[in-house]
Amino acid sequence: MDFPRFLFYATIVLSISVCLFATMANSLGINYGQIADNLPSPEDVVPIVKSIGATKVKLYDADPRVLKAFANTGVEFIVGLGNEYLDKMRDPAKALAWVKQNVQCHLPATKITRIFVGNEVLTFNDTSLSENLLPAMQSVHAALVSLGLDKQVTVTTTHSLAILETSYPPSAGVFREDLVDCLSGTLSFHQKTGSPFLINAYPFFAYKGNSKQVPLEFVLFQPNQGVIDPATNLHYDNMLYAQIDAVYNALATLGYKKLPVHISETGWPSKGDEDEFGATPENAKKYNGNLIKLMSKKTGTPMRPNSDLNIYVFALFNENLKPGPTSERNYGLFKPDGTPAYSLGISSTSNTVGSGNTTTAGGNNGKPQTTLTPPSSPTSSSTGYLSISSATERYELVGNVAVIVTWWLIKILV
Ligand SMILES: *[C@@H]1O[C@H](CO)[C@@H](O)[C@H](O)[C@H]1NC(C)=O
Ligand SMILES: *[C@@H]1O[C@H](CO)[C@@H](O)[C@H](O)[C@H]1NC(C)=O
Repeated sequence: MDFPRFLFYATIVLSISVCLFATMANSLGINYGQIADNLPSPEDVVPIVKSIGATKVKLYDADPRVLKAFANTGVEFIVGLGNEYLDKMRDPAKALAWVKQNVQCHLPATKITRIFVGNEVLTFNDTSLSENLLPAMQSVHAALVSLGLDKQVTVTTTHSLAILETSYPPSAGVFREDLVDCLSGTLSFHQKTGSPFLINAYPFFAYKGNSKQVPLEFVLFQPNQGVIDPATNLHYDNMLYAQIDAVYNALATLGYKKLPVHISETGWPSKGDEDEFGATPENAKKYNGNLIKLMSKKTGTPMRPNSDLNIYVFALFNENLKPGPTSERNYGLFKPDGTPAYSLGISSTSNTVGSGNTTTAGGNNGKPQTTLTPPSSPTSSSTGYLSISSATERYELVGNVAVIVTWWLIKILV
């Protein structure tokens, strides 16, 4: 093969690899909170979400402006029903009206795949609120069934990690005893309707409260010796995985060993009050950057190595009207003006092909596609390609098949 030809085919191979890399990064989810008075319009948020390669967005409501702006973008949505709706949603007629008006009308242009009913309801310790949770979830699900949408849209709720009585070591993870009755009903609901269990997990909270005892490397996914769970002999080198496995264990003790667990929120603030140790842009960059790198490897936790964690990073923007400590207003990857809150190492994959303005094979409608690459990765042309071999399971398979097919194409064409 002469050299120009080689270059031409090599470009094709690289282009396909880059597309695959983009596919692998597809599992990134992002929380789009809007407790702020200075955020960009939803239309302007579409390219921001795309710039980080996020393909899943979680809203805290069902803001029609956002859902319309994201029509026909392929981005998947989880919409939320706030705690203030729980009482109302017990009523099947009201649940049906809500689903029609807030979900059905956007389908199929906007890909809403899940509704979360109530946010961290059980840890408010408000019995009347907690008692409304399951009936509200049931009415919303029944509404979806009656509209023939229950196969494409599932119903769940989100929990704080504080529903655990014990979370360490992971093998000792159990739910708070006073919540077990209420939880059992929702767990059985998840199993019957095929929806996942959603947990919000913040190693930052654990670090903030015990910064002397907890090694920063362990919470930021930095290299460290880790810890071994004495009961299972499993090795943990990051706190998030230990927290998630504590949840798996708690579910297993109630007989729900197979229930999928998704991480509906996790993140790290770039700013905090004086007593909020660790809330810095450097640490936020390490936490979120390393987390995204870990996600691209598609490995589960030590206890469930084959599970897909479906992580939603918190959050897209800093939210200036959130109450509470300074950290609460500073979880964003982006500032309200749309510029990054700190450098996360965002690089355009079209550049990684090294072919300048040439669009990639298989295309992205001719638009350059940007993917969030971990800060430590070199942005060389090899990044996308090598990632295939470090990916696991189906992505590895898809990658290999694509490379083989590409070689065949070259052989046939040359
Ligand atoms: C709820 O109750 C638990 C257990 O009694 C307690 O540890 C927790 O601090 C309470 N949370 C709130 C928000 O009151
Ligand atoms: C890419 O191509 C477009 C249209 O063909 C052109 O306007 C633009 O300047 C080019 N950009 C670079 C970086 O070459």
